[in-house]
Amino acid sequence: MKVCVVGTGYVGLTTGVSLAFLGHDVTCVDLDENKVQTLRAGRSPIYEPHMESLLGEAAERLTFTTDYSEGVPGAEVVFIAVQTPSLPDGNPDLRYLSSAAETVGQHISGEGEFTVVVNKSTVPIGSSNWVDSILREAFERSHGRRADGEFTVASNPEFLREGVAIFDSLYPDRIVVGSDNPRGLDVLHRLYRAVLNQTFTPPTFLPRPGEVGAVPMVSTDLASAELIKYAANAFLATKISFINEVGRLAGKVGADITQVARGIGLDARIGPRFLEPGVGWGGSCFGKDTAALITTAEEYHHDMPIVRAAREVNAQQRSVVVDQLLSELRILKGRKIGLLGLAFKPDTDDLRDSPSVDIARKLISRGARVTLHDPVASDRFRAQHPDLAGQLADSIDEVFDDADAVVLVTKWDQYLDLDWGKFTGIMRKPVLLDGRHCLDAARLERLGYRYLTTAG
Ligand code: UDX
Repeated sequence: MKVCVVGTGYVGLTTGVSLAFLGHDVTCVDLDENKVQTLRAGRSPIYEPHMESLLGEAAERLTFTTDYSEGVPGAEVVFIAVQTPSLPDGNPDLRYLSSAAETVGQHISGEGEFTVVVNKSTVPIGSSNWVDSILREAFERSHGRRADGEFTVASNPEFLREGVAIFDSLYPDRIVVGSDNPRGLDVLHRLYRAVLNQTFTPPTFLPRPGEVGAVPMVSTDLASAELIKYAANAFLATKISFINEVGRLAGKVGADITQVARGIGLDARIGPRFLEPGVGWGGSCFGKDTAALITTAEEYHHDMPIVRAAREVNAQQRSVVVDQLLSELRILKGRKIGLLGLAFKPDTDDLRDSPSVDIARKLISRGARVTLHDPVASDRFRAQHPDLAGQLADSIDEVFDDADAVVLVTKWDQYLDLDWGKFTGIMRKPVLLDGRHCLDAARLERLGYRYLTTAG
């Protein structure tokens, strides 16, 4: 099928490249000339495992351009996957979406073709209707006549996780599509057939896991599809906040939260995933989507106390690190504290709402000196947080050198495999706060560390 994807961020690029890999003819449009040049050269503007390999495999079916007229006319499916950053009031900023929809509307050819315009950006519930009206007006202005069944709007929320985005798009748990037009649902069913039936030949670098069978497709009306996205993210965020809230109590009563999580997670009704305690969630979705869900609910005079609490616990979790260090070191002023990891999670260089950056700033405001390290996100950090660029360490040794404490914030494999024994001698105090509960406490204590976690 001929497909156009507007926006080459995480979601747009993964969608475009995966669909091209599956055999569709894909044109990716982005207004950023630099990004387009980079992609044309076969390089990925974002750090995402396997992205460049997949780009290489799908190259002959992929076009990158800044020009909508190369992609939209004649496309059976147009994805809009532009950013919707949070405004200060918690609502998403829909400027980019509105201008993308307008330009798409102008370029739909309307010559006997039927185009499904898919909203892939996370948008407030009801936005698909709004996109539909923008498309309609733009179409009418540029064609000088009313739109008459040439297109329909669909919602197809994205559940991909950064760092495993390609895996998630080839082997998803489910595909959700929402449209009030059955013809729109049909087109999307056809588009995803190879994923739904798992009939494609997997890339050598990402073999199909044995347990992956046919993928369920949930076909709904527009509003339900839009709400599914928010409800899924709010639920996952709540699950993490729940284990962190219990973790704090565990610390007080002398229980081991990792064992508690295992003990409850083996109950199939609860499940083991997203029960890892620690510094809490960050990233581009959970914070933004929970805020948007609350503001949407407010418009209907509906309160969402569980979602509010999940956010509150998550915000406190970052302060827990500072409090733990304060009670261990007594004084933070002048202390040297090393932070391992800046990205909000491993296998990405994304720093949006990163717990690490927040913790670093909190420590600095308390007078501590911080030393920061990340195996991948340092360049991005330098560009986005120039005022803290001087705190970046050149090596892991520098993080430990003369430190009063080191905090493991991001669970990069590289940190899990460190030769921990060699650092105690160069630290001023061998205090280690494992912000992800992922290290072997007994072993570290044997090596001479004072081992702490967010649960005490
Ligand atoms: C998330 C959703 O998982 C995805 O479906 C949606 O499309 C976008 O938002 P992502 O933000 O990429 O994806 O990361 P995810 O792997 O979900 O992790 C989010 C945050 O939660 C990270 O900061 C991670 O460290 C944290 N986390 C995750 C925990 O603290 N504990 C856990 O058990 C799991």
